[in-house]
Amino acid sequence: MVGALLGDRAGGDVRTSPHSVRPVIRPRTREAPGAARIKAARPASRARWAGRGLWTAYDGRVRRDPPTERGSTVEIEGSVVLVTGANRGIGRALVGEFLARGAARVHAAARNPAALGPVVAEDPSRVVPVEVDLTAPDTIAAAAEAASDVTLLVNNAATHAVGHLLEMDLALVEDVMRTNYLGTLRVLRAFAPVIERNGGGAVVNVISVGAFGGTPALGGYPASKAALHSMTQAVRQDLAPRGISVHGVFPGPVDTDMLAYVLEHEPQFGEVPLATTAEVARATVDGLAADAEDIFPDSFAVGVGELWSRDPKAVERWLTEFG
Ligand SMILES: NC(=O)c1ccc[n+]([C@@H]2O[C@H](COP(=O)([O-])OP(=O)(O)OC[C@H]3O[C@@H](n4cnc5c(N)ncnc54)[C@H](OP(=O)(O)O)[C@@H]3O)[C@@H](O)[C@H]2O)c1
Repeated sequence: MVGALLGDRAGGDVRTSPHSVRPVIRPRTREAPGAARIKAARPASRARWAGRGLWTAYDGRVRRDPPTERGSTVEIEGSVVLVTGANRGIGRALVGEFLARGAARVHAAARNPAALGPVVAEDPSRVVPVEVDLTAPDTIAAAAEAASDVTLLVNNAATHAVGHLLEMDLALVEDVMRTNYLGTLRVLRAFAPVIERNGGGAVVNVISVGAFGGTPALGGYPASKAALHSMTQAVRQDLAPRGISVHGVFPGPVDTDMLAYVLEHEPQFGEVPLATTAEVARATVDGLAADAEDIFPDSFAVGVGELWSRDPKAVERWLTEFG
């Protein structure tokens, strides 16, 4: 089944074949799955959608308009970025990637700013440490005050827990939802006005391919990522008129502390190729620069994304049977 997900790339090792890694970019002009239903809808309902600028009926066909008029690229060079969970893993690699791509400043956020020393040392003139704990609203509000120049927000920080939902400690499930869903929403609510005041920009939510199926052994984590995916879709429409584009990133397994913890308990997750943080960061920024709404930043994720677009039930089956 791994082969089915990876397609032709099943034999490739993403650690040694970085060139096989590419973000999947879903063009915004692609007809949405619900288009046929919208076409058949009563004229009043159609007018309501068209009135919101989301759908336009013409020549008997229905097409989806780009949600914003602001052009088709996101400027990385000269941008001011804030990355949560920047002290290690994918977050740390994202800081390095934004620096390499010419960001004017990167606010590196961590719940323990003392852990940011090596990240700041990468470029002390452009990396600014800031405290953000997703479960401590006061730190989020203070960060939005301190980092008032942000134009690109990367919601990367997240937590996880293993266990089966029907038996595990409910406090762990609550912690994952409070952190990954509510905490991320809090950061987004604090920074959307900041980005808007700075003339618009972008929000990147690091989700997971796990959002497409409820892997039983991973407790509340897949549900928190499914909720974040849903939030990403919802706020995309709300923020477009405010000049802010919203992007979802769906990595497969990545070689980080988070995955190491999962492998300790569920070794079968090591059966698929692991991406490196550097390649995920590079493909994420590539996808952002290309204004992709959905970014699949590694070989495994590309396979999942392709299967999901033609057979979402197959992805769900695979993810639920995996752990
Ligand atoms: N690794 C994978 O296989 C994989 C796959 C798909 C998606 N992802 C996603 O990628 C993102 C980064 O994960 P990673 O693999 O790099 O994990 P990681 O190495 O475990 O790093 C997680 C980061 O999130 C921070 N964090 C956790 N709880 C926090 C809180 N309450 N407030 C602020 N920061 C908090 C951690 O800070 P501390 O150092 O203080 O704990 C750390 O900086 C996450 O959204 C994860 O869900 C990972």
